[in-house]
Amino acid sequence: MIGISGTPRFPFHPYGEDTLTPHPDPFPDGLGQVELPDGQLAWLITRHEYVRQVLRSPDFSSDFTKPGFPLLRPVLPADHTPPPGMFIRMDGLDHTRLRRMFIPEFMIRHIRALEPMIRDTVVGALEDMRAAGAPADLIEWFALPVPSKVICHLLGVPYADHEFFQERSRTLLAWSTPPERALAARDELRDYLAGLIARRLREGGEDLISRIAAERVATGEMAAEELVGASLLLLVAGHETTANMIGLSTLVLLRHPEQLRRLRERPESMDDAVEELLRYLTIVRTGVTRAAVADTEIGGQAVKAGEGVIAWLSAANGDAAVFDDPEGLDLSRGSHQHVAFGFGVHQCLGQPLARAELRIALGELLTRMPDLALAVDPAEIDFRDGVIFGARRLPVTW
Ligand code: HEM
Repeated sequence: MIGISGTPRFPFHPYGEDTLTPHPDPFPDGLGQVELPDGQLAWLITRHEYVRQVLRSPDFSSDFTKPGFPLLRPVLPADHTPPPGMFIRMDGLDHTRLRRMFIPEFMIRHIRALEPMIRDTVVGALEDMRAAGAPADLIEWFALPVPSKVICHLLGVPYADHEFFQERSRTLLAWSTPPERALAARDELRDYLAGLIARRLREGGEDLISRIAAERVATGEMAAEELVGASLLLLVAGHETTANMIGLSTLVLLRHPEQLRRLRERPESMDDAVEELLRYLTIVRTGVTRAAVADTEIGGQAVKAGEGVIAWLSAANGDAAVFDDPEGLDLSRGSHQHVAFGFGVHQCLGQPLARAELRIALGELLTRMPDLALAVDPAEIDFRDGVIFGARRLPVTW
């Protein structure tokens, strides 16, 4: 769609002609201007090389209170204050200070120790789905409960409260949410987590929140408010993303039966398959937003301080200079250069966990349900439009 200024309007429709693949890149030069919902113009960066340049440069800020920060939906002035602890929206040393405290929790060694718990969760969810009887909604029975239970276990959030936090996370991430409701959802989640953290500070525990509360908050290194914000970030980022990836990956595999057959024959190639699914689907379909904080240049184009920039991950992951036949799915290509987890200092902290969940969830699903099939015509599948792309429901039989 073209805006009043004659430039394309962004966000684009989340998908292209074939639903599963993203909207095509309109800018052959690797970047161009788009008009945002509030009428502001921003640079949409589409070439792989330029996306990485933006995401590793200190000339671009993640702080949405910076002048010119591109807002993809309206926000209330009350929302426009830096949320304590939300380090995804911080720069420089403030960001590093908080991120560093969580790095050990997501190191590959630590995630490996969680694998038996992840596998038990996956197998339990598959048994529940089987018991519910076919056809069943794979999102409801499998794709959502697995990452939700895993992140609850890791953080020490009671899974019994899952309806409360899933509903509010979804409200926060949907485009159609009016700003007052988004703010209310965020505050309710913060209050909930503040109560939980206060309890853990008093009573202790074996989970991530208890550990950080004891080691960082009780010692005065981190404010309790900061742990609230960081836990909120982990809780929301930790289940909605992986859930949509499990659902969409299943759909993609069922729609590519020849590649699915080869993957079943060679389960050891699951790691490569997961990387290609991450690239092909790029579920953070709107990309990641930044504000230029210094006059700079991208691919010969001057970008001034105070201008908004969107690093459009899906276009970078479809860049033919980096990936052969980028529109095609090739589970054996080993797409290690993809930017589905972002790039640079804000690159996804949870990626070792997300990879382990995807590998185990898809592996067990394919082995335990050899006759898995869609229970509806693919054209009937309804997709979620928001920060994270996903299917609302995925009815399957087995
Ligand atoms: C397939 C699943 C996932 C995808 C595609 C994904 C994608 C991303 C992307 C693109 C970013 C960069 C944001 C930016 O540059 O502004 C990011 C950051 C982040 N992700 Fe993920 N993510 C996934 C799973 C997870 C999980 C499971 C967790 C945690 C348990 C997590 C926690 C985070 C955190 C904390 C950040 C902020 C890092 C920082 O600012 O330093 N993500 N993720």
